[in-house]
Amino acid sequence: MTTVKPRVRGFICVTSHPTGCAKHVQEQIDYVKGNGPIEGGPKKVLIIGASTGYGLSTRITAAFGCGADTLGVFFERPSDKGRPASAGWYNSAAFEQYATEAGLYAKSINGDAFSNEIRQQTIDTLKADLGQVDLVVYSLASPVRVDPATGEKYKSVLKPIGEEFTAKSVDTDKELITEASLPPATEEDIANTQKVMGGEDWTLWMNALREADALAPGAKAVAYSYIGPVLTYPIYREGTIGKAKEHLESTAGELRIAGYDAYVSVNKALVTQASSAIPVVPLYISILYKVMREKGIHEGCIEQMDRMFREKIYGASGVVTDEKDLIRVDDWEMREDVQEAATAIWPTISTDNLKSDTDFEFYQSEFLKLFGFGLDGVDYDAEVEIEVPIPSIG
Ligand code: NAI
Repeated sequence: MTTVKPRVRGFICVTSHPTGCAKHVQEQIDYVKGNGPIEGGPKKVLIIGASTGYGLSTRITAAFGCGADTLGVFFERPSDKGRPASAGWYNSAAFEQYATEAGLYAKSINGDAFSNEIRQQTIDTLKADLGQVDLVVYSLASPVRVDPATGEKYKSVLKPIGEEFTAKSVDTDKELITEASLPPATEEDIANTQKVMGGEDWTLWMNALREADALAPGAKAVAYSYIGPVLTYPIYREGTIGKAKEHLESTAGELRIAGYDAYVSVNKALVTQASSAIPVVPLYISILYKVMREKGIHEGCIEQMDRMFREKIYGASGVVTDEKDLIRVDDWEMREDVQEAATAIWPTISTDNLKSDTDFEFYQSEFLKLFGFGLDGVDYDAEVEIEVPIPSIG
């Protein structure tokens, strides 16, 4: 037993709080349940990248909105030698406990989802326990991928393409406005980032699932992407990660041609462990939070995923897409009035008005929540057991 306090190092918090993470999961469950059951939703769901951010919220919505049995795949760290486990570990331990209490099947596989071994283990578990799934969600965010065919390791990078990009950014640790200067990507950087964050691995998963007869007739598949505002184009949409996302989006089209009911959902910019690592984006998110909260249309991961299920995939109109066949839950972020307001605030921000003119403090509190800190009703001075098993893993 020990007390756990946040220890932030750059854009990551190296500690996480088991009770706080469980509370964070519980709050998301309460939100979905508060909106009532999702009629016509999936009943057996595989989520790849299920432990944090959008994947976790997807799992919670499937289970507690649709009453679905879920199998989650993720790469998380258990506690070790007095060091707390990663937040995704605690989230998954809590999720499995709550889902089981609610009478739902919930098992998890912890390991590298890019590897053939973990894919096979997942399929074996799925076949043994669930037979077939009617929804596959692909929500991985990773800086590296080992190609299972060649054993070669690829690293994704966050760089602009063509020329150096210099822009205002926020040092979230020191609470300072800085200038981020990013060198242009090489051709190799672009190819490597696509290899990690593009659609190749998604295709491998879908083909393996179909080959194993693990997809129910009419099963849907969804992966997540981001577009964002012109402000962040050089580092996001027109940068290396944007190229990888374009590849992911065109993979959905190829999968549909191959007979899968596959889509990409474009989600809103939100603080997660993945997005906090992208230069410039945390400042944009702090501004966006202010604008959207003032307009009463702010959403977190759970609100986004709940709305995606209810209105964009399993609603009365079926799957709702734009002219590029993309599901758009970033629709409120991209609203003209929201973008105009954010674009007007952007040039006026300096270290002096960072807290008054953006929602930087909310950004930071949301960031800490990802690691289980700052949740209401949790006594952070109390000693807690940091060795928490995930029931299906141990
Ligand atoms: P996250 O960092 O919260 O979640 C990543 C998940 O992937 C975790 O469950 C993690 O355990 C798992 N993972 C990472 N590497 C793995 C590996 N090798 N094997 C197995 N599991 C692994 O990230 P977030 O933000 O939820 O991202 C999920 C997807 O949503 C990504 O495709 C991201 O680009 C997309 N997205 C994120 C947005 C944002 O603002 N955060 C906006 C729109 C889309």
